Amino acid sequence: MNLLIDNIGELVTNVAGLGEGGPLGIRRKAALLVEEGEVAWIGPARYAPAADRRIDAGGAAVLPGFVDSHSHLVFAGDRAAEFAARMAGEPYTGGGIRTTVAATRAAGDDRLRDTVERLRTEALRQGSTTIEIKSGYGLSVADEARALRIAAEFTAETTFLGAHVVPPEYADRPDDYVGLVCGPMLRAALPYARWIDVFCERGAFDADHARAILTVGQAAGLGVRVHANQLGPGPGVQLGVELGAASVDHCTHLSDLDVDALAMSETVATLLPGAEFSTRSTYPDARRLLDARVTVALATDCNPGSSYTSSMPFCVALAVREMGMTPAEAVWAATAGGARALRRDDAGVLRPGVPADLILLDAPSYLHLAYRPGVPLVREVLHNGVPQCLP
Ligand code: NIG
Ligand code: FE
Repeated sequence: MNLLIDNIGELVTNVAGLGEGGPLGIRRKAALLVEEGEVAWIGPARYAPAADRRIDAGGAAVLPGFVDSHSHLVFAGDRAAEFAARMAGEPYTGGGIRTTVAATRAAGDDRLRDTVERLRTEALRQGSTTIEIKSGYGLSVADEARALRIAAEFTAETTFLGAHVVPPEYADRPDDYVGLVCGPMLRAALPYARWIDVFCERGAFDADHARAILTVGQAAGLGVRVHANQLGPGPGVQLGVELGAASVDHCTHLSDLDVDALAMSETVATLLPGAEFSTRSTYPDARRLLDARVTVALATDCNPGSSYTSSMPFCVALAVREMGMTPAEAVWAATAGGARALRRDDAGVLRPGVPADLILLDAPSYLHLAYRPGVPLVREVLHNGVPQCLP
């Protein structure tokens, strides 16, 4: 059974050089054929082949599904009171992570699984067809392995973040905790993880600890990502570049040297504007990175503390309004940029042979994602060729 999406007014392919719009590779009056879960054909609507099933896009825009390359969906409880306190003037320090660790440890597997399922569905309905999910609220061997085992039920893009913060029982012996992360915890995480990440920040892990953890994870076969330069300047970005990280995430406080290092590297700068929104912080300067020719991705950072949103359209709108990105740059960063951050060439792009992961908007152009903020514009989502919204 095949499926034709016909009468597409604006098709964003992210195949540069195809059609207009530079890197967005926009085709007008197009059609797209899905066969066996993959994109089988793209061409002018007037040459569209016959198909078993047809969706009439009615002149609306179709885009690759969003690639949310940074989320923390395995947790229990929420921190709405902490958010309210911040909006009344309290700063964000990351200290609340321990509150979520306690709630997560106390929760049963089913409760954690239900939360991931709920948020994964919420994200999919808003167009995220690829999502990365981190551990990091277990911080014991068994609880980190459990978080990754549950995350792996939902995505192949799982990240071991045992080095999120030092848990209370190791508060006065952080070296011992780093030893635990590098040894038994890493071994327990390996069957379920593709990536390793460290929160490299004052109050979490310093450069020496972060390097030790990332290096041992890399030697065990995991790809590297880093939470870097979120709350202040620091060594995280340059450490990530030094280790060949796929992505350094947050990048809110960057020096010229950080920007230069990124520009000379293959490492993606993943910006997480939901975190600055929810912590009432200064947004990262995407314009500076783009002007230096750094590859930029956008992701949600969905977690109960610093950014409790699963909405990539919301992040696109914030990036355009607050971070100096054009709508085209933001949409590319939320799709192809996220795929680069996960070193994937089969996501964030629409061309024959890739999984049919795409979204149909209730709007004539991708521009509306930023132009009409907060409006549920994602009308239909295809994931592996299967419509998620239509009956
Ligand atoms: O990416 N920065 C560290 N970790 C998360 C926040 C986690 C939390 O506050 O619970 C982040 O923003
Ligand atoms: Fe994060």
